[in-house]
Amino acid sequence: MTSLLLTGINSLVTNDPAHGGVLGELHDAALVIDGSKIAWAGQRQNAPAADAATDLGGRAVIPGFVDSHSHLVFAGDRAEEFAARMTGTPYSAGGIRTTVAATRAATDEQLTANVSRLVTEMRRQGTTTVEIKSGYGLTVTDEARALRIAGQFTDETTYLGAHVVPADQDPAAYVDLVTGPMLDAAAPYSKWIDVFVERGAFDADQARAILQAGIARGLQPRVHANQLGEGPGVQLAAELGAASADHCTYLTDADVDALASSGVVAGLLPAIEFSTRSPYPDARRLLDAGVTVALATDCNPGSGYSSSMPFCIALAVREMHMTPAEALWSATAGGAASLRRPDLGHLTPGTPANLTVLDAPTYLHLAYRPAVPLVTQTFLNGRPV
Ligand code: NIG
Ligand code: FE
Repeated sequence: MTSLLLTGINSLVTNDPAHGGVLGELHDAALVIDGSKIAWAGQRQNAPAADAATDLGGRAVIPGFVDSHSHLVFAGDRAEEFAARMTGTPYSAGGIRTTVAATRAATDEQLTANVSRLVTEMRRQGTTTVEIKSGYGLTVTDEARALRIAGQFTDETTYLGAHVVPADQDPAAYVDLVTGPMLDAAAPYSKWIDVFVERGAFDADQARAILQAGIARGLQPRVHANQLGEGPGVQLAAELGAASADHCTYLTDADVDALASSGVVAGLLPAIEFSTRSPYPDARRLLDAGVTVALATDCNPGSGYSSSMPFCIALAVREMHMTPAEALWSATAGGAASLRRPDLGHLTPGTPANLTVLDAPTYLHLAYRPAVPLVTQTFLNGRPV
């Protein structure tokens, strides 16, 4: 195993509380990667010797982004639906069925190539961990297939058979399928189970039954909650001890209290509000109440087709009043908390060497220079990707 010393780091974000501040930021820093792990992080003048060294010339280094919410296993796109939204047609959950039809008709190779393309796009933008959901198959074989394909790209796979009730199917019978044969087929490939709790998708009782069936099979719950209006999703997430309640666009005070007291991570997905022309979630209200916030892309062909965590950070800062430091923490350590991965989202000795080099002097440029491709290199488990 060879070690690599990275020097010339103007700003190193470690997310290690030992280094102080929200981000554990070090200036004039160095980092040692040994094999697949971080071996050392600190001031440049204290850096230990290594087998090789690279001078980053005053760039910034941050932990790789942890994107805790995406739907990458699909075929086709819905560009026309997006265009219609921009002239006033509201987003509705019903559009999911368009992608379901295209996904069922696609071959394994086509779906795998689509995920590969999007994961590559994400890596180029600094993402080192991505959660990937099923949810565009909605039959026993199509959901299992989606999860098998997702598992080729990530350990963070999520069974979302309860995305929407397929056209012409009885809701009660579909819940029986999702909690029975479909769960049997999906569970071997899944870490998580998720439900779209929303008018037009699944109500609280259906969602509770689905999540409890998954929990009984060893899957951990996460929830699509309160995206299109106030509803029971957040309360259900708190009741069941879910890892995250994602979207959180429309919250009552009781919902905010439930998130704060339960420790459920609020996943905020501002690229969706951008692409559906909806109000952004109130991040300040959540942060001020002590809620842990994650930022994620929710990359999908319907409600928002961005794979870019830097874009989400820029939106969170400009539109949701998060500080740049809060936004970066939420896009890295916050995502790791959402995925219950204490080993990820920070650059401390012994953790995977997942990091992103920015062609910028500090992480502030992520929001200050929106839409500029600042990521020059992404390391995954110690290797450039
Ligand atoms: O997270 N809200 C449900 N699912 C996706 C959208 C899926 C789609 O429109 O195809 C979301 O926004
Ligand atoms: Fe989603």
